[in-house]
Amino acid sequence: MCGIVGFVGAEECADFLVKSLKRLEYRGYDSAGIAVFSGGKIKTVKAKGKIAEGLEKKLAEDGKPSGTCGIGHTRWATHGEPSDVNSHPIGNGRVSIVHNGIIENYRELKAFLSEHGYGFESETDTETVAKLLDYYYDGDPVDAISKAMKDIEGAYALGIMFRDFPDRIFAIRKESPLIVGKGQGENFIASDVTAILDHTKDYYLLEQDEIAVVKKDKIRFLDSHGFEIEKELKTADWDLAAAQKGGFEHFMLKEIHEQPQAVKNTISPRIKDGTPCFDECGLSDEKLKNYKHIFIIGCGSAMHAGMVGKYIIEELSRSPVIVDIASEFRYRNPLISKDDLCVIISQSGETADTLAALKLANEIGADTLAIVNVVGSSIAREAKMVMYTNAGPEISVCSTKAYAVQAAFMYLLAFRVALAKGAIDEERCKTLTAELTGIPELIGKCIEEKAQYQYVASKLIYADSLLYIGRGLDYALSMEGSLKLKEISYIHSESYAAGELKHGTISLIDRDTPVIAVATQSALMDKTVSNVKEVKSRGAKVVMIYKSGTDIGKDIADYTIELPCVSDILMPLVTIVPLQMIAYYTSVLLGRDVDMPRNLAKSVTVE
Ligand code: F6R
Repeated sequence: MCGIVGFVGAEECADFLVKSLKRLEYRGYDSAGIAVFSGGKIKTVKAKGKIAEGLEKKLAEDGKPSGTCGIGHTRWATHGEPSDVNSHPIGNGRVSIVHNGIIENYRELKAFLSEHGYGFESETDTETVAKLLDYYYDGDPVDAISKAMKDIEGAYALGIMFRDFPDRIFAIRKESPLIVGKGQGENFIASDVTAILDHTKDYYLLEQDEIAVVKKDKIRFLDSHGFEIEKELKTADWDLAAAQKGGFEHFMLKEIHEQPQAVKNTISPRIKDGTPCFDECGLSDEKLKNYKHIFIIGCGSAMHAGMVGKYIIEELSRSPVIVDIASEFRYRNPLISKDDLCVIISQSGETADTLAALKLANEIGADTLAIVNVVGSSIAREAKMVMYTNAGPEISVCSTKAYAVQAAFMYLLAFRVALAKGAIDEERCKTLTAELTGIPELIGKCIEEKAQYQYVASKLIYADSLLYIGRGLDYALSMEGSLKLKEISYIHSESYAAGELKHGTISLIDRDTPVIAVATQSALMDKTVSNVKEVKSRGAKVVMIYKSGTDIGKDIADYTIELPCVSDILMPLVTIVPLQMIAYYTSVLLGRDVDMPRNLAKSVTVE
C-alpha cells in the first residue's frame, strides 16, 4: 500500500530512487514520483501509471534531477484518482513529502489550513500534511513535525524534505511501516528492506511516533517528546537474489517454484524428536490443552490458510476452531475471552484489519500467536507470541508461497494441539509429522506438471465466469483457487461448498460456465462425484482435481488432474499447486499483468 524510499549519500540518487521504487512497486502502482535536492531547490518529477510507463518516460524526456539527497514514492490511490497531480512527492517548494497511509481528519485539516491562506491542488489527504508542516515550520523541522503530528489522526509513514536542509531527510511513522537503512557514507529510508538490499542489509525499525533525521554520515532518532533515543541495529536475512526474478518470467512463477524450500524452512526448525515443538515462543502443551477455543484470523489468502487450519485442528483434536475475516472480527464485538488462543496469520505483518483484530484480542486478554513472514513487522511485534514462516520475500501481489507456508504451519499447530489435548498419541503425531516432512518433495513434483495446467488454462480463457466446488478441506482449497484466478485473470469465479450448489447457485451453470471440482477427500468423493454429474448434465465443462489411486469413474470430467497420493488430511498442501498454476497460466494467456494485477497492491495497510 504505497512504497516509500529515501536516500542521502555522496552519489547521484535519481537512478537509485527509481530502481528502489521498482522493487517496492508491488505495494502500489497507480503512479510514482521522486523529489531531489538540486541547485538549492526541491525538484520533483512524477507521473501517473506504472514506473516504466510513467515516471521513467518523464525522466527520460525532462531529464533526471541532479542531487545526492531525495525521496521517492509509488502510490496505491486512496484519496483522489491516479493522476500526475495526485502523485507523490507532494509539497510547495519549501516542504516535500511522501506518504503511506490515510489521514482520517484531512477534511478538518484542509478547512483549518484554508482559513490560514493555503490553497490545494490535489485531491489527496497527503497534501494537508505537507501544508500543515509548512504552516508550523519556522526554521526547526523537528518542531514542525512534532506539532503537525499532534494534529493528525490516522495512519502514516512519511518521508519529508525541508528546502532549508538539503543534506537530510526526515521520517516518521504511525501504524504504517518504515525502516531506516544504514550504509557506508549513505543512509536510507524505505517501506521495506527489499528496496535497499543492494546497498545495505542493516536497518533500524522505526517505532510509533519516532522521528528519524537521516544524513549521509549520521542518523538521529527522537521520541515523540523530542528526546534523543538509541535504537537497535538489525540485519536482514533476505538477500538481493530473493527479491529478484532469478530467470523466471514473473515473481509469481518464481514464488510457486520456491514453495518446496519455503515449506521446508517453515516446518523443519519446529520439529523436535519427530513432533512439532513451539518452545521458541513459549506455546506449551499446558497452554494448548487449556485453551477453550482457538480463533484464527486473517484476510484473503491468509484467512484461507486459516480455513485449512480449522478443518484439521477440529478433525484431529475434536475441539472447536473459529475462523474469521479480520475486518469482520474487529467490528463484531467478538466472543473471544482470556481463556482462548487467537492465531493471527499474515504474510506482510502489516495488514491494517489483521493488526486491529490482533490488538482487540490482546485488549480482551486472549493469548495471541502471530504466524508472520516479515520479521519485525507490526503484527509480529504486537502479538504475545510470534512464529515466523521463513518464506523469504513474497513480491508478487498474488500470494502463493506465503499461503503454502501458512497452511503448512497449520499442520504443525494441529498436530501439537491434538497431542496436547490427548486426542492423538505420540505415535500418531510422529507418523503425521513424518508424512508432513515428505510434502515439500511432492509439491515440487506437482509444479513440474506444467503442460496440463497450461492446457486447462487454455480452455478457461474464454469463460466469463466459473465455479470452484469442493467439500470439507476441498472447499477450503476451492476458496483459495477461486481467489487466485479472479485476482490475476479478472475472470469472475466463485467457490462453493459442493453440497450447497443445489440451493441456488446451480442456476448459474450452462455450457459456458466451467467448473473446477476439487475432490481429494476419500470420504467425500462419492458425494462430490454426484455434484460433478449434476453440473455436467447441465452442460458445464468440468476440470476435476483428484488424488491418484481414487476411482472417480469413467468420463466423469472433461479434464482431470491427478495429484500424488498422501493422507487425505495432507492433500491441501499438494492440491494448492494446480490451483495456483491454472490461475497463473490463465493470466499469462490473457496477457494480464500477473505480478501487479489491476486495482490491487500488496500489504494492505489501510482499512
Ligand atoms: C491474495 C492475497 C491477499 C492477502 C491478504 C492478506 O493473493 O495476497 O488476499 O493474502 O491481503 O495479506 P497478509 O497476509 O499480508 O496479511
